[in-house]
Amino acid sequence: MSTIPDYKPGLEGVIASETKVSLLDVEQEEIVIRGYNLIELAEKVSYLEVAGLLLNGELPGRQQQQEMQQEISHYLELPDYLTSVFPLFPSSMGMMDRLRTGVSMLAGEAFDLDDRSKTANKRKTMHLLGALPSIVAGSYRSRAKQEILRPLSRLSFSANFLYMMTGSEPSQREADTFDQSLSLYSEHELPNSTFAARVIASTNSDIYGAMTGAVASLKGPLHGGANEEVMKMLLQAQTPEGLKELLDARLAAKERIMGFGHRVYMKKMDPRATLMKKSLYDLAQDKNRMDLYEICDLGETIMAQKKGLYPNLDYYAAPVYYLLGIPIELYTPVFFAARAAGIGAHIIEQQENNRLFRPRVRYTGPRGLHP
Ligand code: CMC
Repeated sequence: MSTIPDYKPGLEGVIASETKVSLLDVEQEEIVIRGYNLIELAEKVSYLEVAGLLLNGELPGRQQQQEMQQEISHYLELPDYLTSVFPLFPSSMGMMDRLRTGVSMLAGEAFDLDDRSKTANKRKTMHLLGALPSIVAGSYRSRAKQEILRPLSRLSFSANFLYMMTGSEPSQREADTFDQSLSLYSEHELPNSTFAARVIASTNSDIYGAMTGAVASLKGPLHGGANEEVMKMLLQAQTPEGLKELLDARLAAKERIMGFGHRVYMKKMDPRATLMKKSLYDLAQDKNRMDLYEICDLGETIMAQKKGLYPNLDYYAAPVYYLLGIPIELYTPVFFAARAAGIGAHIIEQQENNRLFRPRVRYTGPRGLHP
């Protein structure tokens, strides 16, 4: 009898951490964030409030919100040493690669880099939350040879993020829809990137290193990269008939359709996608682009009928971001910037009560060879 426990490829169904941050309760169809339902949070409070809840364990009051806004505004301004690097990136360098480099470089200005206390880690997460939108927008605009826009003090966090990427001040509906999408992306239990961050943090390494590893994980098309692929597919399809043909061809070729399926939800709809779909409807009506909504809706019906698969958040976030004027290459970086709140909460939790991750393997190679 082997003493090594069962091997689960991809750690499917394995409990790898204890957490008070969040839970995906598939049976109840609820995403629990520190006791609250994420969908209700996204409908009723701002992304910064959700971030405050994730980091502090309770929803911030009015004064705490003002303090958070002030702290974030300070960090939205990037240090010169970082912005001066943007023009040096080769033009072929992808946006997630730029973001990964920028996150790593932020460690350079952390005076408390190796302080792993809760207070220091919270401050550093706030630093990241403020700096990430500026890195995402600034490195993109630098490559596009456009002026790098500084945040405007009159705009909210989300409105500024949108403004710095697109160059236009958003309407209230645009800012609210974007803010809601950030809340929906903010935290999702233990996806690959959060797990990667916890694994790195468990060596007592620093939060910027753990976040850098998480960016690399989230870049993958099976994880965060799916939202960009969804938009490319919708643009290629152009019409409902076009999408039907495209899906038929890809499914016949046994290809994966981006934006569908999920390791945890499996054959159920991601509750975040339901809310994002409603927001897409409102935004598409506002912008006279119901054609885009109808294409997406048809794709959902076809995938349910043919594969019994349902959309995840990426499927509906992609057309929402398109209508908000966000360049496609920035969809995954935006996802990461929002998720940094949840990942920060997990790193704090890991380092507060740490146990080094060091699993075992099932060896399937040869033995007894000699050189
Ligand atoms: N399109 C077509 N078939 C699919 C898809 C899809 N999107 N997703 C799963 N399947 C099929 C898969 O081919 C397999 O079929 P069979 O048993 O006949 O070989 C079956 O469903 C089970 O697939 P799996 O790969 O074992 O399932 P998984 O739990 O590893 O996959 C997933 C989860 C998200 C990687 C997968 O659904 C997928 O590749 N989706 C497309 C990429 C995507 O949208 N990713 C974003 C995920 S949500 C945001 C995030 O958390 O990052």
